[in-house]
Amino acid sequence: MTSREFTFTQQDFDRVRALIHEHAGISLNQSKQEMVYSRLAKRLRANRLTAFSDYIALLERGNSSEREAFINSLTTNLTFFFREEHHFPILAEHVKSRKPPISLWCAASSTGEEAYSMAMTMADLYDTMRPPVSILASDVDTSVLEKARTGIYSAAQLEKLSQEKLRKYFIQESDGQARIRPEIREMVTFRQINLLDERWAIQGPFDAIFCRNVMIYFDKHTQERILRKFAPLLRQDGLLFAGHSESFHHVAGLFRLRGKTVYELANQI
Ligand SMILES: C[S@@+](CC[C@H](N)C(=O)[O-])C[C@H]1O[C@@H](n2cnc3c(N)ncnc32)[C@H](O)[C@@H]1O
Repeated sequence: MTSREFTFTQQDFDRVRALIHEHAGISLNQSKQEMVYSRLAKRLRANRLTAFSDYIALLERGNSSEREAFINSLTTNLTFFFREEHHFPILAEHVKSRKPPISLWCAASSTGEEAYSMAMTMADLYDTMRPPVSILASDVDTSVLEKARTGIYSAAQLEKLSQEKLRKYFIQESDGQARIRPEIREMVTFRQINLLDERWAIQGPFDAIFCRNVMIYFDKHTQERILRKFAPLLRQDGLLFAGHSESFHHVAGLFRLRGKTVYELANQI
C-alpha cells in the first residue's frame, strides 16, 4: 500500500462502502478494494487531493457535484445490444396481445443499448418506425445517460447487431460509428432515476419493466424495497424482466416466475 500514489486504508475503504451503499444501494465486498482505488484515484487527482480520507471528507460534507461523480465512478455499466436475447421475443409476444399505447420501462439502461433494443423490437412487431410505444429509460449514472441520449455507437458496440438491424435502424456516420434513427430515438425518454430513492417521479402503469443486471449489486433488503415499489407500477398482467443471475424467490408473495428470468405479479385479480 505504501507504494501507492494515494493513501488508502481499510478504514477509508469501509467509509467508501458505506457511502456508495447509502447513495446508490450498491454493496461492495472486500474483493473490490483495488477496483475502488483505481476508479476513485481519478477523482482525487481531479480534486488535487493526496489522501482518500480527504476525498471522503469532501463527500461527507455533502458536495453534490462530487457525489454525482463518485456514484458515476463506482457503477458498473457493461451492456450490449440484445443482451440476453431470449427476452426480446417474449417482450414482443407479450405486447402483441395488448391494447396500445404501450408503456415500457428500462430501469437501469446504462448507455442505452437495452432501451434501443426494446425500441427496435417494438418497431419490428408493429412493422413501423413509429409504433404506439413509449419507453422510459433510466439510470443513476448521469454520464452513461449522456452517452445514451446521443444514440451514437462505435463499430465495436454495434458488433452484436445483425446487418439487417443495422441497416434498418441506424444511420452510418463517416467515422465508422452509427447513430440510431431519429424515429427510434424518439420512442425513448432518458431520465436519471436512482432506484434507491424513496420516491420516483414516474408515471405508471407499465406493460413491462426491464430491470436487468443491476439487482446483483444490491443486498436482499434493498432488492425487496425496490421490488415492492415496482409492483404497483406494473399493469396487473405486466411482466418484469430480470438479469440472468438474478432471482426474486425472496419476494415470492409479490412476483412469480413465469419463464426464464421473467416474472409476473403473484396476485393478479
Ligand atoms: C451492468 S449495467 C446493466 C445495464 C443493462 N440493464 C443490461 O442488462 O445490459 C448496471 C447499471 O445499473 C446502474 N445502477 C446502479 N445502481 C443504480 C441505482 N441505484 N439506480 C439506478 N441505476 C443504477 C448502473 O449505473 C449501470 O448502468
